Amino acid sequence: MLTHTTPVACTMLGVRASSLRQPLQTHRQKTGLNVIVDCGAPVWRSARRPVSSIPVTSPGAYARDGGVESIHMYSVKWHKELGPIYRDHDMKAIFLSDPVMVDQVVGRGERYPKLFVPAAWTLHARIYGEQRGLLFKEGEEWWQARRMVNPFLLKNSALASMHTVLNEDIEHFMQVFSRGKTSLEEIDLYRWLVQSMIRIFIGDNLKSSEKSIPEIAEQVVFDVRGIFDSTAALMLVNVEEAAKSESADWVKFCKHTNSIFSMLRNLIKDAGDNLGGVAGSLLKGGMDRDEIEKIVADLMLGGMDTTAITSNWIIYTLASNQTVQDQVRAEVQRVCGDRRSSCELTADIPITRGLLKEVMRLYPVAPFLTRILSEPVDLENHHLPAGSFVAISLFVMGQNSDIFPDPGQIIPDRWMRNSNDARTRQTMALSALPFGHGVRMCIGRRLAELQMLLLVSRLVQDYKLDTVDTAEYITRMVGIPRVNPRIMIRPRNSN
Ligand code: HEM
Repeated sequence: MLTHTTPVACTMLGVRASSLRQPLQTHRQKTGLNVIVDCGAPVWRSARRPVSSIPVTSPGAYARDGGVESIHMYSVKWHKELGPIYRDHDMKAIFLSDPVMVDQVVGRGERYPKLFVPAAWTLHARIYGEQRGLLFKEGEEWWQARRMVNPFLLKNSALASMHTVLNEDIEHFMQVFSRGKTSLEEIDLYRWLVQSMIRIFIGDNLKSSEKSIPEIAEQVVFDVRGIFDSTAALMLVNVEEAAKSESADWVKFCKHTNSIFSMLRNLIKDAGDNLGGVAGSLLKGGMDRDEIEKIVADLMLGGMDTTAITSNWIIYTLASNQTVQDQVRAEVQRVCGDRRSSCELTADIPITRGLLKEVMRLYPVAPFLTRILSEPVDLENHHLPAGSFVAISLFVMGQNSDIFPDPGQIIPDRWMRNSNDARTRQTMALSALPFGHGVRMCIGRRLAELQMLLLVSRLVQDYKLDTVDTAEYITRMVGIPRVNPRIMIRPRNSN
C-alpha cells in the first residue's frame, strides 16, 4: 500500500516529495499486472474525458525552461504543477508519470507498438535511402525483423554462448588498471564495450579492419555526441527546412550519422565469409546480408552507447558512496570467494542487481519512453485517441517518494525480494522501466545487464573507487553527466 505520510524531501531534485504526489494514485486502480494502488482516499468515478480536458502547459514554456538539456526537470516542474497526466502545448505530447496509466499504455499488449523517432533521423534515412535497424521499423515489418533477432539476444542459450567472450573482455579491461593506471575514464568503458560488441555481433574478425579498437571507440564517442547534440538542436526547428537550407546543425548531423554507420557497416562487410557472432547466426537463419548490416550496425551502436553511459553512472555511484561500494563488495566476496567473478557467478548477486536498478532509476539513460498510439487507449479518466504521442516520464517516476521512500538515496536492498510485498514490488517495477516495457522493450537488456554485473563485480573485487566530484544529470537526448566526474581507482591490495 502506498501512503501519503512520507514527507521526505527529494534531495536530488530539490523538490518536496509531496509535490510529486500523484492525484490518480489516491484511489484504487487495477492495472494489467493486477497491481492495486490503494491510498485510502475517496474513489471518484467519472466518464472518460477527451484529450482536450487534460491539463496543458503554457505556450512557449519548453524553450523558455531550457529546452532539450533540461527536459527532465521540465517534466518534473509540470507534473508537479499539473499532476500525473498533462499535455505539452509545444511538443503536442501527453506526459504520464503514474505507474497504473503507464501500464495501460505500454503494457497492454499492443501488437506493433510505435516509438517516437526524431524527425531528423527519419528524414536522414529517407534522403540517404537507408532503412536502418529495428528502432526505425514499424508494424509487421518491425515484428518480422524483431522475431528473427530476439532468440539471439534474449534466449538463455544465446546469452550462455556469449560468456567466454564477455569473461575474456572484462579481464582485458581490468588489465589496463593493473598496469598502473590510476583513473577510470569514460573512454575506457567505450573501449571495453566496442571490443565486446564487435566480438558478440560479428565475431573475431577485427584483423581485417583498418582501425584499432581505441580508434573505433574514439570515433563512436565523437560521432554519437555529434549526433545527439545536432539532433537536440534540430528538435527545435523545422527539419525539412533545415535540410533544404543545409543549416549547420543538419550538416553536422548528416556528417556524424554517415561517418558512424559507414564505419560499422564496413566492419561487417570486411568480415566477408567469416561473419560470426549474432550477424553470422542471422545469416545462417536466412536474413539478407544488406538487412543484417543495417540491423547489426544499429544494435552495436545503440548497445555501446547506452551501456557505456549507464556503466559510467554506476561507477560514479560506487565511487561517491563508499557504504554501497562496501556492501556490493561484501556480496561479491561471499559469492565468489577466491575466484574471479565471471558471467556464471553473476547469477546470484541480488544486491549488485539492486545497485543497477537504483542507478538506472536515478540516472536513466532514456529519461522518457515514447509511444505513438496505433489504437485508442482508455485510461481511468481519459480517452486517448489513436495517433496520440505519449511520453512516459521515467525520470519523474524514479523520484516518487510514495513508491521509493528516500528517493534521492541509493538503496540496493529495496529491490530484494524479501524487502516488500509482491504488490509493492510490482508497483516499483512499473515505476522504474529503464529498458522500456512490453514487446518493444529493449532487445539488448539481458546482454547489457550481464555486462554491467560483470563490470561491477570485477571492479569491486580488485579495486577501490573514489571521487570528490558531484555529477549533474542533464539530457542531451540521453541522460549524461554535465561534466564527467573524475574517478580514482586504486588496487585493493595496495594499502
Ligand atoms: C544499459 C543499457 C541499455 C538501456 C538503458 C537501454 C534502454 C532502452 C530503451 C528505454 C529502449 C526503448 C524501449 C521501449 O520503448 O519500450 C530501448 C530499445 C532498444 N534497445 Fe536498448 N538499452 C540498453 C542497451 C542496449 C543494448 C546492449 C542493445 C543492443 C545489443 C540495445 C538495443 C536496443 C534496440 C535495437 C532497441 C529498439 C527495439 C525495438 O524497437 O524493437 N539496447 N533500449
